[in-house]
Amino acid sequence: MHWDRLIGVIPPLVSTLWLGPVHGQVYYPYLPCASNLRNLTSLDTCMIDTEISHLVLSPSIRTLRRVYSSADRVMLAFDQLECVERATVLERLDIVCFGETEKEVKSMLEETASRRSNPSLLPLLSLLTFSQVSIFTRASPTINWGPCNSSSITNPAALCSFFEIPLDYHNPEAGTGRLALAKLNATQERRGSVFFNPGGPGGSGLEALDANGETLLDVTGGLYDIVSWDPRGVGSLTIPGEIFCFNSTEEHDAFFNGTIELTGIEYTGNFSDAAEVETLYSQASITQQKYKKLGEKCLSGPSGKYLRYVGAAATVRDLVALADALDGPHQPVNYIGTSYGTLLGSWFVNMFPERVGKVILDGVVDPVIFGTKQISLSGGNIFTDSDRVYEGFVTGCALAGSHGCPIASNASSAVEVDKNIQSLLQAAHDAARKDPSVPVSSTDIRSQFLSQMYSPSGWSTFANATYPQLVQAVAQETRNNSSLVPRDPAPIFVKKVPALGRRDTPFVRRADESGVSYTSSAIWCGDSIDRPSTTMLDVFDGIIARSRNVSRMYGGLWPAAIYECPFWPVRSVERYRGPFNKTLANKIIIASNLFDPATPFANAQNLADLLGQSATLVTQNGFGHTTFAAPSTCANAIANTYMTTGKLPDGPTTCDVDAGFELFEGVNTSAILANMHGSGF
Ligand SMILES: *[C@@H]1O[C@H](CO)[C@@H](O)[C@H](O)[C@H]1NC(C)=O
Ligand SMILES: *[C@@H]1O[C@H](CO)[C@@H](O)[C@H](O)[C@H]1NC(C)=O
Ligand SMILES: *[C@@H]1O[C@H](CO)[C@@H](O)[C@H](O)[C@H]1NC(C)=O
Ligand SMILES: *[C@@H]1O[C@H](CO)[C@@H](O)[C@H](O)[C@H]1NC(C)=O
Ligand SMILES: *[C@@H]1O[C@H](CO)[C@@H](O)[C@H](O)[C@H]1NC(C)=O
Ligand SMILES: *[C@@H]1O[C@H](CO)[C@@H](O)[C@H](O)[C@H]1NC(C)=O
Ligand SMILES: *[C@@H]1O[C@H](CO)[C@@H](O)[C@H](O)[C@H]1NC(C)=O
Ligand SMILES: *[C@@H]1O[C@H](CO)[C@@H](O)[C@H](O)[C@H]1NC(C)=O
Ligand SMILES: *[C@@H]1O[C@H](CO)[C@@H](O)[C@H](O)[C@H]1NC(C)=O
Ligand SMILES: *[C@@H]1O[C@H](CO)[C@@H](O)[C@H](O)[C@H]1NC(C)=O
Ligand SMILES: *[C@@H]1O[C@H](CO)[C@@H](O)[C@H](O)[C@H]1NC(C)=O
Ligand SMILES: *[C@@H]1O[C@H](CO)[C@@H](O)[C@H](O)[C@H]1NC(C)=O
Repeated sequence: MHWDRLIGVIPPLVSTLWLGPVHGQVYYPYLPCASNLRNLTSLDTCMIDTEISHLVLSPSIRTLRRVYSSADRVMLAFDQLECVERATVLERLDIVCFGETEKEVKSMLEETASRRSNPSLLPLLSLLTFSQVSIFTRASPTINWGPCNSSSITNPAALCSFFEIPLDYHNPEAGTGRLALAKLNATQERRGSVFFNPGGPGGSGLEALDANGETLLDVTGGLYDIVSWDPRGVGSLTIPGEIFCFNSTEEHDAFFNGTIELTGIEYTGNFSDAAEVETLYSQASITQQKYKKLGEKCLSGPSGKYLRYVGAAATVRDLVALADALDGPHQPVNYIGTSYGTLLGSWFVNMFPERVGKVILDGVVDPVIFGTKQISLSGGNIFTDSDRVYEGFVTGCALAGSHGCPIASNASSAVEVDKNIQSLLQAAHDAARKDPSVPVSSTDIRSQFLSQMYSPSGWSTFANATYPQLVQAVAQETRNNSSLVPRDPAPIFVKKVPALGRRDTPFVRRADESGVSYTSSAIWCGDSIDRPSTTMLDVFDGIIARSRNVSRMYGGLWPAAIYECPFWPVRSVERYRGPFNKTLANKIIIASNLFDPATPFANAQNLADLLGQSATLVTQNGFGHTTFAAPSTCANAIANTYMTTGKLPDGPTTCDVDAGFELFEGVNTSAILANMHGSGF
């Protein structure tokens, strides 16, 4: 039987109960009434923890057999187990757990017992018997490469194919999907493959290979095929493809009409105005209701049946299955991941430490924070260094002067350049408060700036060309002349559609002619931890705190794919929760810019510290998202030497950005760094 929801009273005479597998919610509040219940088997591989929290142990229970999809689920379940003290006749506790060793499960249970200071959990451990369900594997299919469809890939040297995958590696009955693959052949004598993921989550590997394949061939010395793919949830070729929750963009806009989902949050400074805080709070209940409803829509919508299968653990298993097929089942797996691709990377190297070949993780998402904290509350900490990048921008602008950077007219210092920008934000804010439909709100300008922070090579053009247009647009708005501004502003006004390659921020909702994509939410939220008690007020409080103590410029950006996570209807069938300090078969490179607007340097340092001898940290003294954002002969040489010879620097190493790389006319990275004082940006 396939139930979606089971709420019931268990008749007192029932002594044996076998539940599941159940793909929905199961509540156990009535088990205490089942005074004769002796044996309970529950298969809850598809359940989320809201349901487990209702588990109450019957006092007469003798054998309890529970099936979990991962060890962290075991831990949560036992954390919430009630009436343990009363289960005095329990004789056998059988845990069936996928993919974890008995030792790991036991140590998690011990940790739970000691964290709850609940010694009565400990006797349970002695009753534990353990079965591990072997992971579903299939014979590696051969991959036949052919020409790519030129509408998705323009590089004529690229080859394309498809690769069949199980939707759920633990349950063959879930069915299959397929990945759309692309590769560039090695240019030298081939040593194997290097797999690449560009991040997002939700970035297209096909597009990234098309755009960056030659760079990657260069970094890897031409010795490897460069292989990428549209991961689960991405694009129209992979199945499951892009996640949609609405039939059309119009339906989406009507659903969110009048909410901050469409307008963003208008605020000034650090939410210093109490009235603005109140205005935001007044949106809490409507936003929460909308997100709950959104979750239902997503689940019943066109992508609903795939929501459980698009998570990172499945994508890691896809990577390894692909490597098995292309390079052989026991060969080292080489991988380059940028941005969110580093989360896949840290899961990969710890899920398959013995398979680690040459791996570079660049622009790091902290897997420990992601695995232990609610992303809806902590996710905005990606902005930890964003205002420092902004400081780099205004400092460089001031150094260039008004000729090299028009924003510096009337401004002789970074502080004064910032004042010009803040007054533009204030004017746009005032206009948007009067008329929420103005084409350029302060939220739009903040998003513009954030997207610029990713890529310092665009700063001069932004200051010369885009910024003056923003100024002009806002001036028209404040003159009550907004009707003069085209309603559908030029594409420079990034509203919901980020430029190609800018998809790796959760702070945009991707939309195009095919609709509003929820891929990013499906992946972040499906893999995130469960805290069903989180409310929208908590989320708003986090935003206000963050705009005060993390990032004045970006802390209040909305929408973001992460804020609906407390209300997301499912969790992935498998989530890896660590440990992240395994000893790896090969040493890997962890790289980061010193000032990265989306993946703070501290994340790279934390991951490198965790991996200890298994990783080498490479710091690039510069700005932008990932070290690829700025040229560094030094960083390139380290990566190239590593990929071609396996040699690494003796210890953590710092590289400069090339001195000839100008961010503004006559201004290079080291000039900006030398003039940054960290003064209140
Ligand atoms: C190429 O892709 C386009 C758009 O997705 C599609 O219409 C076309 O049929 C594809 N061509 C081939 C040869 O697959
Ligand atoms: C790529 O390499 C394969 C195997 O080495 C070869 O058969 C194929 O012709 C190459 N294709 C291109 C486009 O270079
Ligand atoms: C969306 O499309 C589906 C299938 O075409 C249809 O059943 C459903 O009613 C549509 N929903 C809305 C809100 O239009
Ligand atoms: C949004 O609501 C307003 C009135 O509240 C209405 O005039 C407008 O047409 C609605 N827009 C959409 C896209 O539904
Ligand atoms: C510089 O000052 C002039 C005159 O006060 C003003 O018109 C102009 O907008 C200012 N420029 C900037 C970038 O603030
Ligand atoms: C911006 O304008 C300055 C002054 O005209 C010029 O030197 C610089 O090259 C321009 N930047 C770009 C990227 O065009
Ligand atoms: C609107 O803008 C136009 C051109 O910029 C200007 O001539 C006109 O006076 C403005 N109207 C108002 C009401 O400010
Ligand atoms: C714009 O219009 C509002 C009323 O809609 C008025 O209060 C305000 O003074 C006007 N601003 C300017 C600069 O004309
Ligand atoms: C900064 O804000 C975060 C919430 O994002 C909070 O946890 C932290 O305690 C705050 N720090 C300070 C110093 O206020
Ligand atoms: C907000 O910013 C102002 C000025 O920038 C500062 O004086 C004040 O302490 C800040 N408030 C908080 C709560 O951080
Ligand atoms: C790995 O981290 C865990 C805590 O998460 C710690 O107990 C264990 O000792 C660490 N192992 C190594 C090899 O450092
Ligand atoms: C980079 O900037 C510094 C400081 O202004 C200057 O000394 C150096 O010559 C510049 N390097 C190049 C290659 O322009």
